[in-house]
Amino acid sequence: MEKTTPTPPSAPQAVLFDAYGTLFDVYSVALLAEQLFPGHGQEISVLWRDKQIEYTRLVTTSKRGPNRESVYQPFWELTRAALVYAIKKIITHAALTGTSGTFDAHVSQIEQLLNQYHHLSAYPENHELLRALKARGIVTGILSNGDPAMLAVAVKSAGLGDLLDHVISVDSIRKFKTHPDAYALGEKACGLPARNIAFVSSNSWDALAATWYGYQTLWVNRSNAPFEELGTQPTRTGTSLRDMLSFFDPSAQ
Ligand code: LAC
Repeated sequence: MEKTTPTPPSAPQAVLFDAYGTLFDVYSVALLAEQLFPGHGQEISVLWRDKQIEYTRLVTTSKRGPNRESVYQPFWELTRAALVYAIKKIITHAALTGTSGTFDAHVSQIEQLLNQYHHLSAYPENHELLRALKARGIVTGILSNGDPAMLAVAVKSAGLGDLLDHVISVDSIRKFKTHPDAYALGEKACGLPARNIAFVSSNSWDALAATWYGYQTLWVNRSNAPFEELGTQPTRTGTSLRDMLSFFDPSAQ
């Protein structure tokens, strides 16, 4: 019997981006955290992000009481709760206690950090890449855990509104990525099967789950980190959003 080589996936007709850390630069939040809590900025931003994602999984996989009610809370609420958790942990562990050391003394810093999170800047290559995709007639969008209000502010602050066809929030289904129903929203919005859509994320867990779901994927590895060790690799790995264009370059297949 003749051997067949698997056909490489065709160039994507749509590109969907994760939001936080992928399109929007969360680094400014770490800088502000360092200014507000000298010596602890990095620790706070990592704790905050990890707890935020942990909470998305907790509320997606859990139910309350005999009627199994949803414990879903929008991403903004989880983001706030995760920051409060991170600050409480830092206060306790790092002996930020003292004259100004109660949690109440840090409420205004928490508000400043949340405000910064609300108005994140976009990575500088965003506009150029999105314009290049639009010039090729590619459908573009965001597929994010963020709730619609926070995504609307972020898109507006970054001036990306005209370059995105879809801003898709998981809030409509009250389940966060990596639930398959969340990734299904991308197919529905684009009217395309996942194999004809590229999903771009700088979160390795997001790139992995989107690959499992069936998307072509680009993992944007800005920090030279290892990929997840669960036996599946993203379609491609890059260091910037610009690497998305390699999906359209036959010599890069
Ligand atoms: C998002 C988070 C996970 O935008 O970065 O979905």
